[in-house]
Amino acid sequence: MAADPPKLRTWIAANERLKKLKNAFETKYGESPLFFAYAPGRVNLIGEHIDYCGYSVLPMAIEQNILAAVSANSSGVIQLANTNPQYQDFKVSCTTEIVIDRGNPKWYNYFLCGVKGIQEQFGITSLAGMCCFVDGTVPPSSGLSSSSALVCCSGLLTAEANKKSLSKVALAEICAKCERYIGTEGGGMDQSISFLAEQGTAKLIEFQPLRATDVRLPDGAMFVISNSCVEMNKAASSHYNIRVVECRIATKMLAQARGVDPSGLLKLSQVQTALKASLEEMLALVDEVLHPEPYTREEICRFLGVTSEQFATELLSANTQILTQFKLHQRAKHVYGEAARVMRFKSVCDSGPAESVQLLGELMNRSHASCRDLYECSCPELDQLVDICLKSGAVGSRLTGAGWGGCAVSMVPTEKVESFLQSVREAYYLPDPRRAAMEKQSLFVSKPGGGAAILLAD
Ligand code: GLA
Repeated sequence: MAADPPKLRTWIAANERLKKLKNAFETKYGESPLFFAYAPGRVNLIGEHIDYCGYSVLPMAIEQNILAAVSANSSGVIQLANTNPQYQDFKVSCTTEIVIDRGNPKWYNYFLCGVKGIQEQFGITSLAGMCCFVDGTVPPSSGLSSSSALVCCSGLLTAEANKKSLSKVALAEICAKCERYIGTEGGGMDQSISFLAEQGTAKLIEFQPLRATDVRLPDGAMFVISNSCVEMNKAASSHYNIRVVECRIATKMLAQARGVDPSGLLKLSQVQTALKASLEEMLALVDEVLHPEPYTREEICRFLGVTSEQFATELLSANTQILTQFKLHQRAKHVYGEAARVMRFKSVCDSGPAESVQLLGELMNRSHASCRDLYECSCPELDQLVDICLKSGAVGSRLTGAGWGGCAVSMVPTEKVESFLQSVREAYYLPDPRRAAMEKQSLFVSKPGGGAAILLAD
């Protein structure tokens, strides 16, 4: 039986953050919250941009989360407020259709995704009224999944306020699906780890069916997160969906080239399954079938035997309609290579050889190189930061999350952590006043945290 998210009884007065949020809630709404809900952000240790291709990824939850205080009522209205004054209040009726402004990354649109996901799952015509006060500690637009944590928190609290019970797996799947209302075609890693995480362990997340398996990280090393301070908001740009689309097209091209009917195939993992090939064989196939020069629409249409209209409606997303060039060889190479690195990372963790830390570090470094050179989802500041991290004592360092900005994650031998932090501080943060001002929340050690939960006041 799949487990439900835990409901924990908590002594609010003993927790400063909960106490403050409760007070803010009472001042704002003139009543006490009925319960709290939280969902963590995550750091992906390895397996970037492969979840939407059907391949397993290896993240861990971080301590930073999205927390909400909630009361349920019969007002017929959902009222939202955020402790961050940059995020304005919002109100929506419980009976009119929830409309999510696609490509508009305002904070409440993510919240609404979670509400809509639960509403659709149960066919609820009139949702419970709610007052919610949200407090987030996951740095936004930094690749640590603040937006998915908000969607997950919202999905969880909406289910609770409407007295609906769902397993963690079901919640993860609903939240992965409903976050796509915002316009990005995410793969499900972030929502899965937010619900399925457990304190003290990273997880191998597999899809179809969704499963999370513990991955014991080696003793003797710690993971340090460092923010490049370059903001990247997936929903505000088309970078992310362009990669999703390129992988989808590569899937069809590889299938077609090997005489497999491409019509039902959308993910690179599906061609591998259809061909019963190993990842190494898929890498060789990519070299054989796809050329490194960018493909034009015409060439793809000709190869697949589809019209330009079919191409636009069946393969492109709303925000990628204007694309004219597609790098298929490089993207597919990254995906199959990265999928293999994830499996290798897991098996090194499982077998725990003496040189584990070194081996995992190398895999992380190769992952970064592949993200930078083949998938082109890094940026100069992230590359510089990764470089500094390696020179400062990390055995492995790579961008984490969608990329094009955001954070790097580094694996650092425990005895070197202090000098590592000092050296990264001096080389990356202190020379730049903007970065220096953000350093406290930008450079920190992270241990595997627990998953989303409901908190009831004691
Ligand atoms: C974002 C998406 C995930 C995943 C990563 C890249 O975080 O939400 O589904 O694709 O980017 O690995």
